[in-house]
Amino acid sequence: MMAEQAVQKLPASGPEREKLRQSGQFWTPAWVAQAMAAYPIAGGHRTIFDPAVGMGAFFRAALAVAELANVRVRLQGAEVDKSILDKAKTSGLKSRDLSGVEVRDFVLDPPRTKLKAIVANPPYIRHHRLSADVKSRLKIFSMRLTGVAIDARAGYHIHFLLRALQLLEQGGRLAFIVPADTCEGVFAGTLWQWITRHYRLDAVITFDHMATPFPGVDTNPVIIMIENAPPGAEFHWARVTQPDNLALRAWVLSGFKTVEAGTLSVQRRLVCEGIATGLSRPPQVMTHPAVLADFARVMRGIATGANEYFFLTAERVTALGLQKEFLVPAIGRTRDVAGDELTHADLRRLEAQQRPTFLFSPNGNLPSRFPWSVRRYLKRGERLGLPDKPLIKTRKPWYKMETRAIPPFLFAYLGRRNARFIRNRAGVVPLTGFLCVYPLSDAPNFVERLWALLNHPDTVANIVLVGKSYGGGAVKVEPRALERLPLSERALREAGLAAPLRETQLEFTLREERARYKVSKRS
Ligand SMILES: C[S@@+](CC[C@H](N)C(=O)[O-])C[C@H]1O[C@@H](n2cnc3c(N)ncnc32)[C@H](O)[C@@H]1O
Repeated sequence: MMAEQAVQKLPASGPEREKLRQSGQFWTPAWVAQAMAAYPIAGGHRTIFDPAVGMGAFFRAALAVAELANVRVRLQGAEVDKSILDKAKTSGLKSRDLSGVEVRDFVLDPPRTKLKAIVANPPYIRHHRLSADVKSRLKIFSMRLTGVAIDARAGYHIHFLLRALQLLEQGGRLAFIVPADTCEGVFAGTLWQWITRHYRLDAVITFDHMATPFPGVDTNPVIIMIENAPPGAEFHWARVTQPDNLALRAWVLSGFKTVEAGTLSVQRRLVCEGIATGLSRPPQVMTHPAVLADFARVMRGIATGANEYFFLTAERVTALGLQKEFLVPAIGRTRDVAGDELTHADLRRLEAQQRPTFLFSPNGNLPSRFPWSVRRYLKRGERLGLPDKPLIKTRKPWYKMETRAIPPFLFAYLGRRNARFIRNRAGVVPLTGFLCVYPLSDAPNFVERLWALLNHPDTVANIVLVGKSYGGGAVKVEPRALERLPLSERALREAGLAAPLRETQLEFTLREERARYKVSKRS
């Protein structure tokens, strides 16, 4: 057995942590790396390629699994950072183990040959950390490969996965560990429809919070295992509940057949159901008779493009002499709403704490029509260069603010504290930290019932089904996803609302797919 590298020590914050985020240099622990390396080895492959070698976690893992299975493996790979490869030599690997590694960008300057087995923990570099040039090259690449536009919010890891799939030989196997946004992000539906139309999704492995491979990192990782083989209707889905779980490796080595009792929760799922639910999430029990869109419409909060200029404290409004008609009461930070109600008294408390509560919201009139105080403030905005800022420059005139009707409900969609619905009794419009929830009817009776429905424990519990999960229980929910929030029979009954008389889209898709699957099994 090889000497194992000690667990990576992560800087909690500051420039060192920032450097890590920029380079995506997080190392995979041995128990996870071995389970992943076991996938191609169990499929008979003996040349293992890691496209993002780092300190060589997968090389050590492949050698350990090969020893266990009594076979020999060849190691190949790519890495952009040469200095990290030098360090890899001090982590239990020999120079000859690393001789097959090329210093290159795997996505933008890929190897020229096809690959039989790819095992990777691609750098998790979020889209907003990528340069405009890199983003545009990635976009062209993914469009050419898939024939569909992958949303610009897809991070580098998504393009790593696509490049690996493109290079995977017929019969080849790939195991990737990726953040859950790969299965839950706005682009996930398009991405997985394409993948599962062309490749066979063999397994998805998820982790309980207690068993996360990356303690202290704000991410919810998922392992995906794919073979370049005709697509199948079902896949294996596992949940790891204990860390340092070598039973995971044994399960993969057995070809997903043998599970040591009490170590993993394993099930077979339909691919179409997994994609609709989100592959990182447990299967959804189809018992919900309605979704939020049956009762309400959801919009994101207002994006100002420059909160420090447009979002003002009461004190600043007075100092600038801005008139009421150019101001809209607004709320910006989820932290500014302590509970599940926002009242006028809360706004006054925020004012006393010098928190901004007014959105400067001039309409599209010409400046000559505005009072002097507003004109003076607009001039200041121009001097600050606001008309050239990314979002603002798309507006005509630049100071014309987005508008929203006052939403009776807000949804705080991201936070360490649970994502939650908020009754807006203060008549504010929210900025982008919140979503606006508009009941389909303004009838007071309906609005009150809807509030009971939104606050129901079943409804709150279902938020994770439509949210993107991060580490530590934080969830982020997009407007369209919130409209798909499942509502239980019990919550509807207790709130006094009736379910619409129709099948949900997911139930419909599943019924169709099951029927198709039965037919194809018979024929
Ligand atoms: C998350 S680390 C994983 C390293 C190792 N395979 C592991 O699992 O511990 C990702 C590695 O990818 C490297 N990397 C970043 N961008 C890359 C690119 N475009 N091509 C190849 N490697 C890259 C980083 O330097 C980093 O070492």
